[in-house]
Amino acid sequence: MYSKHPIGIFDSGYGGLTVFKSIVKLLPQYDYIYLGDNARAPYGNHSFETVYQYTSECVNWFFKMGCPLVILACNTASAKALRTIQQIDLKSTDSLKRVLGVIRPTAEVIGNYTTSKHIGVLGTKGTIISESYIIEIKKFFPNVVVTQLSCPMWVPIIENGEHLSDGADFFVDKYLKELLKKDNQIDTLLLGCTHYPLLIDKIKKYLPSTISVVTQGDIVASSLSNYLQRHSEIEKIISKNNTKRFFTTDETSDFDIHGELFFGTEIKSERIFL
Ligand code: DGL
Repeated sequence: MYSKHPIGIFDSGYGGLTVFKSIVKLLPQYDYIYLGDNARAPYGNHSFETVYQYTSECVNWFFKMGCPLVILACNTASAKALRTIQQIDLKSTDSLKRVLGVIRPTAEVIGNYTTSKHIGVLGTKGTIISESYIIEIKKFFPNVVVTQLSCPMWVPIIENGEHLSDGADFFVDKYLKELLKKDNQIDTLLLGCTHYPLLIDKIKKYLPSTISVVTQGDIVASSLSNYLQRHSEIEKIISKNNTKRFFTTDETSDFDIHGELFFGTEIKSERIFL
């Protein structure tokens, strides 16, 4: 049992580390634990039921570790599991436990980035099929046209450390061309998968310079900061010793090597079995 009450940050694998990095930069005072469910990643092509089952097992692990607040730093889990966790699982307990995702905070602000009122959203198959971004963005920016596309090859390329290779260029160019063929008025491209920032240089290379690329890290970090200011009942129980622990459901050596690429500094992970 972990004696602190850290904020939990979750992803199917490494992608959530891109969000975690922004969160730690903005809010360094808190204790954090990160869990990557690498043994079962990627989640992107799994069914609703499977993503919900995996995510809820991980969320329960965070609760056992003493986390009062868990951030699903994964769009796929946010799209397919968050609603059930918030509206059914957490409702049936009266404890002070909260789970937040990355789609709503992104949808709340993304309309402010576009002048043409045409946004492109790229994500995993699961995120795109759920239409979560179309539904959520419409609530805040009803006049914005959202065109989305799934990029099923991107997460495997990134997870295998091939994101800087020449081979990756083919699939970056292919999906961007497909998206712009669907809507050539897009001026803002949202990377709606926490893995995709690792491809940002290649994405910018193949995208017209008039289109700006938006990643989620800073958006989610500032939304979390705002949430903690509004919810002092949660904020006051989170421990504040400026610590970070990293956990994975698979090999720690792989996690440490790959994780560093996403997080930017050295990582020493611990393995868990769910
Ligand atoms: N990082 C996850 C997301 O934001 C996707 C990775 C996966 O397919 O597991 O959707």
